Amino acid sequence: MGLGALTDGLAPTPPMGWNSWNHFGPFVSDQLVRETADALIESGMRDAGYRYVVVDDAWEGSVRSDDGNLEPNLWRFPNMHGLASYLHARELSYGLYTCAGDRTCQGYPGSRSREFVDARRFASWDVDFMKIDWCHSGGLDARTAYETWSEAIRATRRPMVLSICEWGRNRPWRWAGSVGHLWRTSGDIADRWDSVMDILDRQAALAEFAGPDHWNDPDMLEVGNGGMTDAEYRAHFSLWAILAAPLFAGNDIRTMSDATRAILIAPEVIAVDQDRLGRQGQRVSRERDVEVWVRELDGGARAVVLLNRGESAARAEVTWDLLGGSRADTALVRDLWERQDIGPRREGYDRTVAPHSAAMLRATRDNSARA
Ligand code: GLA
Repeated sequence: MGLGALTDGLAPTPPMGWNSWNHFGPFVSDQLVRETADALIESGMRDAGYRYVVVDDAWEGSVRSDDGNLEPNLWRFPNMHGLASYLHARELSYGLYTCAGDRTCQGYPGSRSREFVDARRFASWDVDFMKIDWCHSGGLDARTAYETWSEAIRATRRPMVLSICEWGRNRPWRWAGSVGHLWRTSGDIADRWDSVMDILDRQAALAEFAGPDHWNDPDMLEVGNGGMTDAEYRAHFSLWAILAAPLFAGNDIRTMSDATRAILIAPEVIAVDQDRLGRQGQRVSRERDVEVWVRELDGGARAVVLLNRGESAARAEVTWDLLGGSRADTALVRDLWERQDIGPRREGYDRTVAPHSAAMLRATRDNSARA
């Protein structure tokens, strides 16, 4: 845990929800958000834990109002508070974006030197989650700027999750734990396998900085956006879960396939992500294209991802010494995607993993076998 990390109970497990950016880019509207909210409920995603509905960039009008406030684009968002009420009535929460710099990444008015006014504005709309971006921030010190945001939010007296989005430029894991609830650790994800692998590698050294109320954020999910196979999306989702990453679906919930839905609501994979101990998983072995990632869970079991990054099928093996026990242990192994027990295994477990795929397991030390 980072020094003085937040413990305000607003994000005891990694926040989950939906964010408009990855699929819709700047094409956001009140209607899209309402339809997405309905689809989150209909699909079972809300009940699986996806609670924050986050409107990213391009909700803004092109200028501030005469009294200096941020205004929505009124054609697209005629009633911000009404939209919040729509979400709250459905047990969803409302997330909204702005930027720490002069302008947002899409060129709308930014919040530089208006942090207190804008946080108050967001609070007046009953916003629950603020994503603060970093475009056009020349001359600002990241830590100081986000500390100002944290104070501005506190001054509103409305609890709002603070999502820091400076793309990992200023090593936020070293300071952001006492400032915000989640912080991006990389540039923007793309809907491609190499992007997922690239971001994954950037997380390997960051596990010690994450914990309840303060999470590393490897960016929003691309599951269901069409650029990867379902096996690749399952691997992406497995990895984000073992990393204790915030899970923000970034696809069109209204039209997603059954296969996409099955990935996004996989209960035993989500349970790993949301494990209350809040330990981020780590890479414990890497041999050519095959990696083993392990996460300690509440109660002592371990979640395991066997990842094959390569272009051909490969044998992947986890031995129980890699889980912190002894190689001679016996563990009960369960497949978290198949939701099936594999059974007790001595020393370890191995399986063939298809190219660009992952298996996800839970291993629980079998005390009866040791007696
Ligand atoms: C940046 C952020 C993205 C998204 C866009 C919006 O690139 O990193 O997540 O918010 O801006 O313009």
